[in-house]
Amino acid sequence: MAEQLSQSELDYPFKLLEYFNGFRVSKAIFSACELGVFDLLLQSQKPLAAREVGQALGTSEDGIERLLDVLVGIQILEVEHVEGTVYYSSTDVSNLYLAKASPKSLHPMIVYFSQTIYPLWSNLGDAVREGKNQNEKAFGLPSEDIFAAMYRSEEEMLKFMGLMNSTWVIDGHDIATAFNLAAFKSIVDLGGCSGGLASELAREYPSSRVTVLDLPRVIQTAKQHFTDSGSTIHFQEGDFFEGDLPPADLYVLARIIHDWKEEKCEQLLRKIHSSCLPGGGVLIVEALLFENRRGPITAQLFSLNMLVQTEGKEHPPSRYTRMLTQAGFSNVQVCRTGKSYDAVLAIK
Ligand SMILES: C[S@@+](CC[C@H](N)C(=O)[O-])C[C@H]1O[C@@H](n2cnc3c(N)ncnc32)[C@H](O)[C@@H]1O
Repeated sequence: MAEQLSQSELDYPFKLLEYFNGFRVSKAIFSACELGVFDLLLQSQKPLAAREVGQALGTSEDGIERLLDVLVGIQILEVEHVEGTVYYSSTDVSNLYLAKASPKSLHPMIVYFSQTIYPLWSNLGDAVREGKNQNEKAFGLPSEDIFAAMYRSEEEMLKFMGLMNSTWVIDGHDIATAFNLAAFKSIVDLGGCSGGLASELAREYPSSRVTVLDLPRVIQTAKQHFTDSGSTIHFQEGDFFEGDLPPADLYVLARIIHDWKEEKCEQLLRKIHSSCLPGGGVLIVEALLFENRRGPITAQLFSLNMLVQTEGKEHPPSRYTRMLTQAGFSNVQVCRTGKSYDAVLAIK
């Protein structure tokens, strides 16, 4: 793969230049979201000139015109020329994923990437040099307590929970159906945050009782901001490192293992094994690295992100299999979804 890239790049480094510009593309999308471009174009129901967009959003005409052109260039918006005037309009993709009002909106993900991940990544070199997260440099908070940094204010907690929630809007169904989980009648999603994945599980397995366990502040915020009247999931305040876990047939650990040092993960898995009802299991949900270290690039970037923000990392399936069998689990099965997140199921 790498050999192919270096061969084809020798004449002219197209791909390299595209990679260099990656941050500009990200920032253009983030800024357009934050300015409300996609919401305006969805609501307007008709193409708008740059001047009209600028007036509605309170921006300069020149600035917004250049931003709109970039969004056309990356095929997120459409453009047409009518009697000498240029009009911009939304696309199905921008309406579905970038406008706030869409049920599949990724707006909370973009806000978090733009306002939290982006400043953290400006310290990437230091993170690599020091081998630790950059919460101290970016936010003036100690690097050891990763969730104290993530939840440093109510606003930050809501933004983080919005990010977690929006993943399951696009990935939840694939994860809930990666294995047939119908036999597990009680499911506890440990560190289940906003309940986004738990809701998908409850939808898919209506005869199972699905409970989200998370830190008290998170549970209170989840109940207040992320549940609707039709929700069937339950919430429980707790700390998965301290005290007993509620008994369950299936424990879900979605994006938990990648936050922590391996000793802590092993300790948590042993604890889950002892609380798990006979015949029960554990479902780990993470972005799985390839064993040969050649990708997937999304999982490799997530792993670098874990360095910058947490004390954990992403792993290949063999590492999860080893952790699970050491904790006493057997029959480890791996499902790669081909999307951002994968699933690993093991049985007690
Ligand atoms: C990376 S987030 C993953 C959230 C969710 N599982 C998901 O995938 O959307 C980690 C979650 O673990 C929770 N958490 C961290 N430490 C915890 C602890 N000691 N006990 C319970 N939950 C904890 C956080 O509040 C957060 O919701």
